[in-house]
Amino acid sequence: MKSVLLFMFSLILYKNFASAQAPKLDETEVKVLKEIGEKLGINGTKEWDLDKNPCSGEGNWGRGEFPKGFEVSVNCDCSFEQNATCRVVRIALKSQNISAAIPPEFSKLRYLKQLDLSRNYLNGTIPPQWATMRLGDLSLMGNRLSGSFPRVLTRITVLVNLSMEGNRFSGSIPEEIVNMKNLQKLVLASNEFSGPLPVGLGKLTNLTDMRISDNNFTGKIPDFIGNWTQIQKLHLQGCSLEGPIPSSISMLTKLNDLRISDLKTTGSSFPKLQKMEDLSKLILRNCLIHGTIPEYVGNMRTLKTLDLSFNNLTGEIPSSFSELGKTDYIYLTDNNLTGPIPGWVFSSSKTVDVSYNRFTWDSSGPNECPRGTINMVEGYSLSTNKQ
Ligand SMILES: *[C@@H]1O[C@H](CO)[C@@H](O)[C@H](O)[C@H]1NC(C)=O
Ligand SMILES: *[C@@H]1O[C@H](CO)[C@@H](O)[C@H](O)[C@H]1NC(C)=O
Ligand SMILES: *[C@@H]1O[C@H](CO)[C@@H](O)[C@H](O)[C@H]1NC(C)=O
Ligand SMILES: *[C@@H]1O[C@H](CO)[C@@H](O)[C@H](O)[C@H]1NC(C)=O
Ligand SMILES: *[C@@H]1O[C@H](CO)[C@@H](O)[C@H](O)[C@H]1NC(C)=O
Ligand SMILES: *[C@@H]1O[C@H](CO)[C@@H](O)[C@H](O)[C@H]1NC(C)=O
Ligand SMILES: *[C@@H]1O[C@H](CO)[C@@H](O)[C@H](O)[C@H]1NC(C)=O
Ligand SMILES: *[C@@H]1O[C@H](CO)[C@@H](O)[C@H](O)[C@H]1NC(C)=O
Ligand SMILES: *[C@@H]1O[C@H](CO)[C@@H](O)[C@H](O)[C@H]1NC(C)=O
Ligand SMILES: *[C@@H]1O[C@H](CO)[C@@H](O)[C@H](O)[C@H]1NC(C)=O
Repeated sequence: MKSVLLFMFSLILYKNFASAQAPKLDETEVKVLKEIGEKLGINGTKEWDLDKNPCSGEGNWGRGEFPKGFEVSVNCDCSFEQNATCRVVRIALKSQNISAAIPPEFSKLRYLKQLDLSRNYLNGTIPPQWATMRLGDLSLMGNRLSGSFPRVLTRITVLVNLSMEGNRFSGSIPEEIVNMKNLQKLVLASNEFSGPLPVGLGKLTNLTDMRISDNNFTGKIPDFIGNWTQIQKLHLQGCSLEGPIPSSISMLTKLNDLRISDLKTTGSSFPKLQKMEDLSKLILRNCLIHGTIPEYVGNMRTLKTLDLSFNNLTGEIPSSFSELGKTDYIYLTDNNLTGPIPGWVFSSSKTVDVSYNRFTWDSSGPNECPRGTINMVEGYSLSTNKQ
């Protein structure tokens, strides 16, 4: 009897001890999460169950693994008040079919550093209350947000990563973007932005990833892109900018993914890319590039995709191209290239498209590809070469 009592007593003690040890989320932050849940229409779901402490790993809160692109999670920092109180530092609500405006209440989470609301049906714009936030990482990708570029974001000067891709934002990019000097990643692709690229962008020298494809900008590709010396990924495809490709591009020696397409008005000769030793994707399609393809392109050891189609390139395919061992895709379609089609085109396992050029047919070439007819042979396409 005595020992049973003692056992029960120690169980109770243990329980109290354990709950005293599990740090609680700050009361006001619990309320804020409730408000956010109600506004987003996810209150009362098992994924947003605030009867359980989101920082404890109880219920669904402890779920570590999500299918790629889907996620509901709240991450806490529990070092407050000598490890007794937690604050929310990260929230992810990805691909949850949430159809609502963005709640201003997120700004009440003073320690929130990362917020990912990608792939929902959020509409409206960014609430002005967000000006006080100290986010380092924000993704709004794949929603229905609209209106002009939210100037309030330019007040969050600590932002490092910002993705607004795939929304309905319109109008020009404000000069105030210059205030976001910590930006490393800026993805504005697939919106309805217009106007010239603001000069302030040239001061954002920490950029490593800049994607503005699929918008409706005006004016030339600015010279100041040469200031982005840390850039690794630069996408300027189908954004209605004018050529030429500025010579300052040669400064961007850390590039590994460069995509430019559909330039208007003014052409250029092949840009000077010889110092870009890490390029794995090089797309310069429909950029009004004239002149010859430099020999060094064939010496880019890490190149996987090369697309130079729809330009006005002349001369022969450089002999160095036979060395492009890692390149799986080569598109030279619709240029004015001349000379013989090199033998490696026929023997390689790569996808090579050399159609719509002015190659001369070498009778020593494979005779199953007679001149002037369309040939789609596995791995390469010759199609019609202009006579
Ligand atoms: C969610 O919040 C809304 C608005 O406060 C409320 O009307 C609704 O009853 C709540 N739903 C659940 C399941 O708690
Ligand atoms: C809080 O927890 C950390 C990690 O467990 C520990 O290193 C630190 O000493 C604790 N601080 C206090 C004040 O208890
Ligand atoms: C979102 O809606 C689609 C289509 O109705 C459905 O298949 C999917 O399961 C929903 N996702 C979530 C997380 O509720
Ligand atoms: C957002 O969507 C809701 C519901 O579909 C709609 O009532 C509201 O007008 C929309 N707001 C904006 C700014 O588009
Ligand atoms: C920015 O994104 C990079 C790459 O995903 C990540 O490693 C880094 O932690 C992010 N920065 C912040 C401040 O969240
Ligand atoms: C680049 O980032 C660092 C560290 O985040 C920051 O101190 C610096 O001011 C930024 N560079 C520029 C040009 O603002
Ligand atoms: C390039 O960056 C430097 C250093 O931040 C700055 O002084 C200069 O004005 C920038 N150039 C342009 C054209 O923005
Ligand atoms: C892009 O802007 C031009 C000039 O303002 C306009 O004529 C054109 O319709 C726009 N295109 C798209 C796809 O919005
Ligand atoms: C190819 O060159 C011919 C003759 O110089 C010219 O008429 C034609 O426009 C050029 N084609 C392309 C795609 O630039
Ligand atoms: C291509 O270059 C040729 C020769 O320089 C020139 O005659 C032709 O007009 C150019 N075509 C285009 C579309 O730029």
